[in-house]
Amino acid sequence: MKTKKTVSKEIENIVAFYESLNEELENFSLPLEKLIQSKILISEKMGGKIAGIAGLGDKNLLFLVVKKEFQNQKLGQKLLAKVITLAKHRKYHFIALNVFASNVRALHIYKKFGFKIVTSNIMNSRKNYFMVLPLDLRGCIYEALLKLYFKCELYFVTHLYYVRRLWLSVKNFIEHKTKMR
Ligand SMILES: CC(C)(COP(=O)(O)OP(=O)(O)OC[C@H]1O[C@@H](n2cnc3c(N)ncnc32)[C@H](O)[C@@H]1OP(=O)(O)O)[C@@H](O)C(=O)NCCC(=O)NCCS
Repeated sequence: MKTKKTVSKEIENIVAFYESLNEELENFSLPLEKLIQSKILISEKMGGKIAGIAGLGDKNLLFLVVKKEFQNQKLGQKLLAKVITLAKHRKYHFIALNVFASNVRALHIYKKFGFKIVTSNIMNSRKNYFMVLPLDLRGCIYEALLKLYFKCELYFVTHLYYVRRLWLSVKNFIEHKTKMR
């Protein structure tokens, strides 16, 4: 069992790792306070130093970052596999995440592990995907309901746009006709 001292030492190491991030922050923007409070927080070491961290924060949102010099050595996938196993053990129903469409490496591993795109939006002027990985039946239902919700939202937003345009044309036509009298 880990003692309080080893746990706080590990947190210190994670804080030092977080503070050493630089280029990686282009695709990773979780505030340190949120990271420390996350429900699941794990790390992978290389040569005794933390090379990457991953976990689950608020609303089961996944975070994952590997230090530049250790990327492309399967560490990201190792961390992701561990988070999924832990989440299953703790009986979470699903894992969700946000990933920029341009982050092809992250997107590749998320799809490889079974995450599905539920919707897309624009975040900080960049295209972003919201992805979900169901872990049990309730997770599958949640994913299906979310997909339905976003489809309906899209339907109403597009159709309301046309209804509004039609209404404006009718209004303009009436105004024009009244002026001509
Ligand atoms: C995304 C990230 C966590 C991945 O970790 P990693 O340790 O580099 O990834 P891995 O080595 O485990 O796996 C990389 C996979 O991407 C593939 N890959 C590499 N470059 C790629 C590219 N340009 N396009 C598509 N796939 C690519 C590799 O082939 C490998 O897949 P494979 O095992 O099926 O062959 C890491 O790059 C990172 O920390 N990036 C910065 C922060 C970030 O983007 N976090 C995710 C936020 S959602």
